[in-house]
Amino acid sequence: MRKNSFFPKLRNIIVRCRYVCSTIIAALFCWGFSLYTEEITREQIIQAKEAIVEVEIEEARSADTRQVSENKISASVVKETREQGSEADSSSDLEEDWKLMLISKREPVPLDYTFELGMIQGEIRADIRILEEANEMLKEARKEGIFLVICSPYRDYDRQEMLFNQKVKSYMEQGMSFMEAYIQSSHTIAVPGASEHQVGLALDIVCSTYYRLDEAFGDTEAGKWLAENSYQYGFILRYPKDKEEITGIEYEPWHFRYVGKEAAKEMTEQKLTLEEYVEQVGT
Ligand code: DAL
Ligand code: ZN
Repeated sequence: MRKNSFFPKLRNIIVRCRYVCSTIIAALFCWGFSLYTEEITREQIIQAKEAIVEVEIEEARSADTRQVSENKISASVVKETREQGSEADSSSDLEEDWKLMLISKREPVPLDYTFELGMIQGEIRADIRILEEANEMLKEARKEGIFLVICSPYRDYDRQEMLFNQKVKSYMEQGMSFMEAYIQSSHTIAVPGASEHQVGLALDIVCSTYYRLDEAFGDTEAGKWLAENSYQYGFILRYPKDKEEITGIEYEPWHFRYVGKEAAKEMTEQKLTLEEYVEQVGT
């Protein structure tokens, strides 16, 4: 008797509550799914950035490089405000002298420095004011059979930090102490908050036939072409060989910094680093 009345009651409760239950289950499912996708998205963002570089390199390698390297300055422009940086002085002078702005461990990115980001080759981001000349440089190189590939343009603070920490970790895995690894890393990757990439004025450039960021790039046709010609488009080889004592950074034949045509010409002709030039002109 009891048994007979219990099951119909239970069935009634289940029937009445089925909408509530299914709503709760659906909500739990959505919540779980959103947590899952959030995590994936973070991963994917990093992977996507790497993939962009890979695709650029692969495409540039392919036979139809001329078409692939058809650089377009995108109309879509993002207003970027630096979120992190240092407590270094900033002033309206600095805003005007953006082309000659020194960014280093001693002169980190000013907190209130703002600039506009534009795009080149669809995804490559840099300060919008340097894009036209960067584009021109890639086009002229192509005419001479050199297919340049921008593999590392603007980076935000987080990306710089991630790259720096990776470097520190790899040195520590080779047996260095944290401090040794930190100091060694800072000679090749700017400490977070002190990279020219963070202000959108630096481009790491390789080529379709050699895309490793190492000293040997300087001996490639592309490396030589860039060292000799980039000044015509307002760029300088920012970390030359034998100037490490001044720049604090090892020779980087792939890292080009926009300084404007006039300054780039003078610096290249007189073999001056940005530090030396700035001191000379008294900026
Ligand atoms: N590799 C250069 C120094 C940078 O990280 O900005
Ligand atoms: Zn660089």
